[in-house]
Amino acid sequence: MSLDPTTQHETVDSYVASHLIRKNEGLDHAYQNSTNQGLPMIAVSPIQGKFTSLLATLSSARNVLEIGTLGGYSTIWFAEALKGRGKVTSIEIDSHRRDVAIENLRFAGVQVPDEVDVRLGAALDVLPTLKSEIEQGQREPFDFIFVDADWDNQANYFDYAVELSAKRGVIYVDNAVRNLVERESFGKGDPKDATDLVARAGKDDRVDAIVMQTVGAKEYDGFLLAIVK
Ligand SMILES: C[S@@+](CC[C@H](N)C(=O)[O-])C[C@H]1O[C@@H](n2cnc3c(N)ncnc32)[C@H](O)[C@@H]1O
Repeated sequence: MSLDPTTQHETVDSYVASHLIRKNEGLDHAYQNSTNQGLPMIAVSPIQGKFTSLLATLSSARNVLEIGTLGGYSTIWFAEALKGRGKVTSIEIDSHRRDVAIENLRFAGVQVPDEVDVRLGAALDVLPTLKSEIEQGQREPFDFIFVDADWDNQANYFDYAVELSAKRGVIYVDNAVRNLVERESFGKGDPKDATDLVARAGKDDRVDAIVMQTVGAKEYDGFLLAIVK
């Protein structure tokens, strides 16, 4: 019996999750508590959370930067991938969301701020501080940078990510495909469109990048993945 093509991506996601994602009380609590406290349901899916944490492990990351914490769901995935060998720094603009994230992280057994430091503020205000901390030798550059905040600034966050990255560091920009196809300018080839992440990454000799389109529980989208040379 073949699957209904309109829902098969959700069916496959559920099947994969049921076999490959182990029950995790901390992650389940983060989803539920975030909803209970009025946060929007815009966290990564369990499959995306595991995929990005596997990528962080593959890149032997010790220092992960996340832009966009929400309730800390993806942050817990990274913290568990780095357990005992690294630290996550995550930036969130909304103080209620940051508080919920800290509560969720602690429930999941993550030490805050030793294992995860959640910085409150607009990313474009916090990123220069992180940059100067790296320049002054107060912290190491980041080996894995996960961009998952406001879409209008994706290209600006990408620029910062390149500057804050270690050599061979990995940059992952979530929702890069929906941000591309939902733009009015998409396909019109405006060379002056400095907000176009894909065009910007393509012109940047400091990185090697690609975009992967995806389907899944969160419908059609995709991410940009880059390695800093
Ligand atoms: C998609 S959610 C992050 C989801 C989270 N990474 C997860 O998967 O669990 C995006 C978050 O970015 C935050 N955000 C939006 N604009 C921001 C900004 N300028 N600086 C920092 N955070 C921002 C939002 O408040 C929201 O909580």
